[in-house]
Amino acid sequence: MKFHIEKLDYEGRGISREKDKVIFIEGALPGEEVEASKIKEEKHFELYKATQILKPALKRRTPFCPFSKECGGCTFAMVSYENSLLYKKAIIEDLLKHNGLEHINIEIASSPKQTGYRNKISLKIHDNQIGYYKEGSHDFVPIANCLIALPAIQNLLEDVSLITIQEGAITIRSNNNDELLLIIESQEEPKFKEELIQKHKIAGIIWNEKCLYNSPFFFERLDHLLYKVSAESFFQVNTDIAEQIAKDILPFFKKEDIVYDLYCGVGYFSLKLARIVKQVIGIEINPKAILNATYNASLNNLTNTSFHVGKVEEILPKLPYKPSKVLVDPPRSGLAKQVLDVLLTSSINQIIYISCNPKTLVRDLKKLTEKYEIKSLKLYDMFPFTKHVEVCASLELKKC
Ligand SMILES: C[S@@+](CC[C@H](N)C(=O)[O-])C[C@H]1O[C@@H](n2cnc3c(N)ncnc32)[C@H](O)[C@@H]1O
Repeated sequence: MKFHIEKLDYEGRGISREKDKVIFIEGALPGEEVEASKIKEEKHFELYKATQILKPALKRRTPFCPFSKECGGCTFAMVSYENSLLYKKAIIEDLLKHNGLEHINIEIASSPKQTGYRNKISLKIHDNQIGYYKEGSHDFVPIANCLIALPAIQNLLEDVSLITIQEGAITIRSNNNDELLLIIESQEEPKFKEELIQKHKIAGIIWNEKCLYNSPFFFERLDHLLYKVSAESFFQVNTDIAEQIAKDILPFFKKEDIVYDLYCGVGYFSLKLARIVKQVIGIEINPKAILNATYNASLNNLTNTSFHVGKVEEILPKLPYKPSKVLVDPPRSGLAKQVLDVLLTSSINQIIYISCNPKTLVRDLKKLTEKYEIKSLKLYDMFPFTKHVEVCASLELKKC
């Protein structure tokens, strides 16, 4: 079938309309005429994949990665970096507008590295070959490289034959010092050639939660802070951009502030905040990450932090402190109702909301604007060329 693409949805898919139905088309850009085949049909929408671009957008170019069409991870591989940012900005503008949050200026922070930025990739292994599952499916796409991964990870991918596994999955993490943590899931015990250890800086190899080599963690040094990160703990995937976010938000905090760092992970923001403010209280669901956060505070000689393990929605309502400022950096699902309720019934001077999902961010902002005013909103391109963005909003208590 042929379609004309009006604009992009928040997942970076082309939107077209047929009578009362919305049609989402993967691999299509605004203004294009495409031939597409149906993938899925629901009551109010249909999902298609562009099979032929009949009238290409002026912005379309040859993708920067030879695997992008098959793997689908880099939704904007077929446009320039500058244009990918414009599309991402338009998506957020659209989301804000649809939720009645208009006249908000969106600033953009581009990524210093447009490729070779990701410090963590997760691959499938099939028939001793590495690859990704095609976006939204279980179709295996073999790859020889992933150009958005850090150079140390790309070098390892060239030597992946030094690891023998028939079927399974591998997550490769790295730090600024090119050290690599390999996390393997497989029914068979993986075998490694000695050359792997000789050629690459292997911080650790973990197989089904068992540490086979060195340590089940790595260290990351950023901005004179040292972070221990366990294999299971979250860490910001594009550290240049994470550092940019921190640089922008830290001036909001003052010496006398008591700050909640909700969804604190290994304490990435908590430690930076602890160097400035009176007290930082972090909450995080992952026990390994909370152990890391507690350890990281003492490793960096910071004594004004306390960390609580559990769900923010369960712990937050019971905490006795009176924070002056709150930083939230939730998972894609955004803030739970109980968390929004606490924020709406307390009088916090300032909330910094960092989000990796603009859809849930906008949903939560809409609610929070009952009591808080959005002072700034900035798109940080944490994940260049993919459909993902990081957005940071600063909110202040409304003056009555
Ligand atoms: C986007 S990460 C942010 C981590 C941290 N702020 C950082 O910069 O490294 C979200 C974190 O929320 C944690 N998490 C997910 N659901 C949670 C919940 N209901 N309560 C507390 N933490 C949660 C995850 O384990 C993850 O560490």
